[in-house]
Amino acid sequence: MDVTTQIEQALVDALEHADKPGCPPRLVSAMRHAVFPKGARIRPRLCLAVATACGDGDPKTSTAAAAAIELLHCASLVHDDLPCFDDADIRRGLPSVHRAFGEGLAVLAGDALIVLAFQTLARIAPAPQRLGKVLLSVSEGVGTPRGIVAGQAWECEPFVDLANYHRLKTGALFAAATMAGAAAADVEPAPWRRLGEKIGEAFQVADDIRDATATSAELGKPSGRDAALSRPSAVRELGVEGAVHRLGQLVGDAIVSIPSCQGEVELRTLIMREAKRLVPGKMAQRAA
Ligand code: IPE
Ligand code: IPE
Ligand code: MG
Ligand code: MG
Repeated sequence: MDVTTQIEQALVDALEHADKPGCPPRLVSAMRHAVFPKGARIRPRLCLAVATACGDGDPKTSTAAAAAIELLHCASLVHDDLPCFDDADIRRGLPSVHRAFGEGLAVLAGDALIVLAFQTLARIAPAPQRLGKVLLSVSEGVGTPRGIVAGQAWECEPFVDLANYHRLKTGALFAAATMAGAAAADVEPAPWRRLGEKIGEAFQVADDIRDATATSAELGKPSGRDAALSRPSAVRELGVEGAVHRLGQLVGDAIVSIPSCQGEVELRTLIMREAKRLVPGKMAQRAA
């Protein structure tokens, strides 16, 4: 089975467990709307790539970790789009969950997806020591002190350090992906944190560049939101050119952070290929 099918199948299976008689149908529809159709699925693909590079002998655990991370990402998008945060009407080219189902169900669908992520991990029940490391890696990426929740909460503070904000709101879940991938393959996760954080920070800088330079139709989500909401962003702090330069530095930092492992060469090639796609040529040209 190819990686894309493996991820989609794991997500379909996870949602099946939420969709049982007695559960409110509109809640389940809102959860499905948040997960399908898919986005880039970059975090679960990174998780599986790291697991493979570490010589994964138990794909059941890495697949569950990858699915859990994507469910958490989807939940974060549902909450991020709410009127009290970024107030976004579209996501992945469709009405955002709160536009399609109302604010109340959007809050609950996000909550339920967060819980479903941990149910998905618990259900596969690998050896307790391995499960503990995977759970810790994944949960650190979403909570406090250094996960998505903490990152987004910096938007409610008067002074923000941009790199720290990016590291928490986006880098943390990428770090969860690399660390959980290693832990699922029974490899010590700590040395894999830096790679995830650097890729995640690069990813958010690229997202800030796209927000400032692309159209909503190109993105499938509203563009120009960072400026409209006065969000701390790489473009606001460094300008487009400075942000493109910073992106290059972060990708370089990521490449040199790959811990030595049996699939190191393949992993480096994959990360370089993904990095090239972060800001499509057309947008980079427009920005220049
Ligand atoms: C969007 O993430 C949120 C950010 C952290 C910038 P993605 O760009 O990975 O969104 P999807 O999953 O592909 O829609
Ligand atoms: C991602 O940042 C925030 C999350 C943690 C979901 P953005 O607000 O820039 O993401 P988009 O641009 O809405 O996808
Ligand atoms: Mg947003
Ligand atoms: Mg953005």
